[in-house]
Formats: sequence, structure tokens, C-alpha cells
Amino acid sequence: MQDLAFDVSLQSFNTFGIASRARRYLRVTDARQLAELARDPALAALPRLVLGGGSNVLLGDSVEALVLHMGLPGSEIVGQTPDATLVRAGAGENWHAFVLFTLAQGLGGLENLSLIPGTVGASPIQNIGAYGAEIKDVFHSLTAFDFASGATRTMTAADCRFGYRDSIFKHPEGKDLVVLDVTFALPRAWAPNLRYAELAQALAADGILEPTPRQVSDAVIAIRRRKLPDPAEIGNAGSFFKNPVVSGEHCARLLDSWPDLVHHRQPDGSEKLAAGWLIDRCGWKGKSLGRAGVYPKQALVLVNNGGASGEEVMALARAIQHDVQARFGVLLEPEPVMV
Ligand code: EPU
Repeated sequence: MQDLAFDVSLQSFNTFGIASRARRYLRVTDARQLAELARDPALAALPRLVLGGGSNVLLGDSVEALVLHMGLPGSEIVGQTPDATLVRAGAGENWHAFVLFTLAQGLGGLENLSLIPGTVGASPIQNIGAYGAEIKDVFHSLTAFDFASGATRTMTAADCRFGYRDSIFKHPEGKDLVVLDVTFALPRAWAPNLRYAELAQALAADGILEPTPRQVSDAVIAIRRRKLPDPAEIGNAGSFFKNPVVSGEHCARLLDSWPDLVHHRQPDGSEKLAAGWLIDRCGWKGKSLGRAGVYPKQALVLVNNGGASGEEVMALARAIQHDVQARFGVLLEPEPVMV
């Protein structure tokens, strides 16, 4: 294939800023490149790493898989239903730029998800969520290229099997699928989603009682800027661990020793714990191991203090997992994909 490149630096393509190199690399700006790839038996047989904004991966020194760096462009309104406006974006569009595009069209629905790093194509992979919203709430459909059949297919929310930071794309059944574009159904009858107390409080503190989508977005942006490091300044991949879910009994036992444990009851009686709180209580906030560290303002975020390798970040993650397991009997599961 003509546009295939070799030994490409991925340092500026991952938000951790790890100096990793790709053995083989393809910048995908047209879906036909994937069809061409699928027709070449030698290339089609290679393991693949689909890279969007690189905001949810931890890369090793070298990536042996063929890197497909998704750059499919475009954001547009594509239709109306009785309840919603349908808006579609290419997988390569920057997520936050797309959120701002919808707001500029006067459409609400994505404002709680403002400033999440990464691309539109990555948003369904882990069903991105923040401040009481997840993309599955406004998801309409997506188009994916299927390396198994060599054809594109349309997938509904049910096909995608969305869960907490989860979807079919993270499981073996989804390994041959590459997201090409995503369509969202943004509601005509918009109402603000202020379930997340910190967001409601931030707006109320500014005297805003009936916010517009834009005002909610501005408030989310302000909160995120206060708590989360900007990858352009400090390498990071957002939350490094998922919030763990434990049984009701386990949570009750922990509460005996730790009355201020942060926990949220789930519909099935299990309890979701705040990983940031657990890490904080193990004393890791603001600490470093080698050139990797725990962000001083949010213990859930691991950072590259400059020049860290993927292995150094992993060593820190393992030390944290060990301490949280020893103290609380809870195994923290990393959120980023390790390559
Ligand atoms: N906490 C501490 N110490 C810390 C960090 C948090 O005690 O160092 C406590 C907080 O006081 C709070 C609780 O832990 O009571 C939860 O913390 P917070 O609301 O800051 O974050 P979270 O709920 O754990 C999730 C998402 C974030 C998302 C926020 C806001 C996950 C793994 N993370 O964090 O997503 O922005 O909610 O909705 O679900 C991301 O995935 O990259 C991400 C940033």
C-alpha cells in the first residue's frame, strides 16, 4: 500500500506523550484505505491498533501492531426525527470541537461531555461519560468497517452493547470493527442534566438557574480545567482507573472502618466506589515513582512528569493497585488500553 509508513514516532499522537514508535503506520483519511488493506492478505493478517486522539492508551517503547491513525473528517446535520436532530461526525474529528459545533448549531445534548480529550471515533469505544451523562444517552448509530467481511456496516446502540466505560469494541467480538463515523440524536425538547451535584452547584453559584446548553458547557469546562491536567501541558490519559464496583456487604464492611468512603449504590444492590478516593487514602496523591506521578489535584489521574516510559507509568499503576488491594481489598482496573 502506497500510504503505509514505517518506523513512525507516536509521541505527539498519545496524550501521555510516551516516546513510542510504530513499526507500521497508516493515516486513515478515507474509508477506502481500509477496504484496500483488507484485500491485501499479508496486511490484513497483521494485528491492528486503532488510534484516535491517543487519549486512552498507554504505549510501550515500540508498537508491533499496524497502527491505524483515524483521521476521517466532517461534522454535519444529517436529518430530523420527530424528537431529535441527527448530527454525524467522522471518526477523526476532535471530540470537543464536535461538541462546540453542535452548540453553535443551537443543539443541546452533548454539553456535559465538553472538553473530554480524544476523537469522535473513540467516543463509543468506551462509552465516554462525565457529569451524569454518557454518549449512549444520545447515541443514534454508527458506521464501522468490518475487517472480517471487508464491508461497512451500520450499528445501533443495542449492537454496540454499551456499559460503564465499555462496549462491544473492547471485547473479542468487536476486534475486527473500526468505527468510521458516529451519528447522535440530539433532543428537540432539551432540558439540562444537572444530576451531578458539583455541576448544579457551580451554575447556582453564578446565579444561573435555567441554564442554556452553552452555559452548562462553560460550567463543565471550568470544572474540568480546575481538576484535570491539560494534556498539552502535562502528559496524562484522564482517569487511569475505572471506578470499581463491589458487593453491598463489602462496602458495608469498609464503611465500618472508613465512614467517609465515597460510594454510589447501583440498581442491583452493588456499590460503585470512587477510585480517586481510595488512591488518595493510600497517600498516593501528588506522589511520584520515577518520572510517572499521581496528579496532585485528582488522584485518579496518572501523569508523565517528563520523559516517562510506558513501563514507568505501569510500575506506578501496579504500586497503586497493590496498596489499594492491601488496604481495601479492591482491585483497580486500568481504563486506558495497554499496548
Ligand atoms: N476523590 C478524592 N480524592 C481524589 C479524587 C477524588 O477523595 O484525589 C473523591 C472526590 O471527592 C469525590 C469522588 O472521589 O467524592 C469522585 O471524584 P470525582 O467526581 O472527581 O471523579 P470520578 O467520579 O471518580 C468520574 C469519571 C471522570 C469524569 C468525572 C466527572 C471515571 C473513571 N471517571 O470520575 O472521567 O470526568 O467522573 O463525571 O468514571 C475520564 O474517564 O478520563 C474522566 C476524567
